[in-house]
Amino acid sequence: MSMNLHGGHPGQTFERLGLPPRPVTDFSVNVNPLGPPWSVRKAWPGLISEVSRYPTLDGDGVRAFYRKRFNLPGECVLPGNGSTELIYLVPRALKIKRAGIMQPCFQEYERALRLGGAEVFSVPLSAPDLFKPLPVETWENHLVQADAVCIGNPNNPTSTITPRKDLLELVSRHPDVIFLVDEAFVQFLDHPGNVSLLHRRYLRPNLLVFHSLTKFYCLPGLRLGALIGHPDTLAGIRPFKEPWTVNSAAEAVAGLLAASRKYERYTRELIAYQRQKIAAALADVPGIKLFPSATDFFLAQWTATHDLDGLLRPLLMEGVHVRDCRNFAGLENNFFRFAVRTPAENKRFQRALMHIASYANG
Ligand SMILES: Cc1ncc(COP(=O)(O)O)c(C=O)c1O
Repeated sequence: MSMNLHGGHPGQTFERLGLPPRPVTDFSVNVNPLGPPWSVRKAWPGLISEVSRYPTLDGDGVRAFYRKRFNLPGECVLPGNGSTELIYLVPRALKIKRAGIMQPCFQEYERALRLGGAEVFSVPLSAPDLFKPLPVETWENHLVQADAVCIGNPNNPTSTITPRKDLLELVSRHPDVIFLVDEAFVQFLDHPGNVSLLHRRYLRPNLLVFHSLTKFYCLPGLRLGALIGHPDTLAGIRPFKEPWTVNSAAEAVAGLLAASRKYERYTRELIAYQRQKIAAALADVPGIKLFPSATDFFLAQWTATHDLDGLLRPLLMEGVHVRDCRNFAGLENNFFRFAVRTPAENKRFQRALMHIASYANG
């Protein structure tokens, strides 16, 4: 059975299930359901003038965003063509030899580390423990054999949050281990400031944070993000990076995002309220096990039939696409993920899910 490595490709799922394609609402991608900020939409036609010239070598427009929005000095920011570029750059530049990855997680960490020449081992979260964060002692056991560890925070697809104080304690106790923390979804949290390491005071030479601007600002097609770290560590990585990877339209758009505070607030309110409603509506549906979420997506498990296709097929026929998670390590047993979207879309999704579950439960 071939399955998508990423969300956002309903066509492949239609094909795999032998169904004729039709328009769907795509719950398999966790981007802001509001779409890009209004300021970006308004500026869009004018961006044609940007693409007729080369962008800056190192994405200065994105660097300026992090200075304005997070008060991060330019020397602590390495912009990229989405955080994916930087996830691939770091193992290559730092010549990581042996890395632990908190799993299940975004699958590109493992691929990037292996392509960079690293050996990889799993630091597993436990489904019976609801994918709760690992205690510091568990990390200690894993860290003895690693020169790097990779931790999604919040983690995709489990929504696990590793407390900042635990991370900082481990970072200071293990100066020879490089901590790679992915904060692609951190801005969707109710209080990102309680979790995020995107502040000058938290930066250490053995800590690197991947940050994305494509999820929270709904710009996945524009590709922009950054690696945040200590100036000395970034100075060692920068020489390995290709020039011009942040395009000039993305640079110009980054300049608009720093002033999107109203959009940010509204997004967080919308997500928080909808998340609560979804959790309440699906808490006791027979055939669906919902895992706790603090962000803009839920992990769930289908237990009504033996095969997740028993859910995916009728959902697609109802015009709903979710992320099949069976190709994540540890999620083979009928796990799926869905995004929190607009009120009307969420309602439609819940209705479809409940209807299919009641039908499957006989
Ligand atoms: C956890 C996580 N990190 C990073 C990325 C990459 O995001 P981008 O390259 O668009 O910044 C993704 C994309 O799905 C993701 O899920």
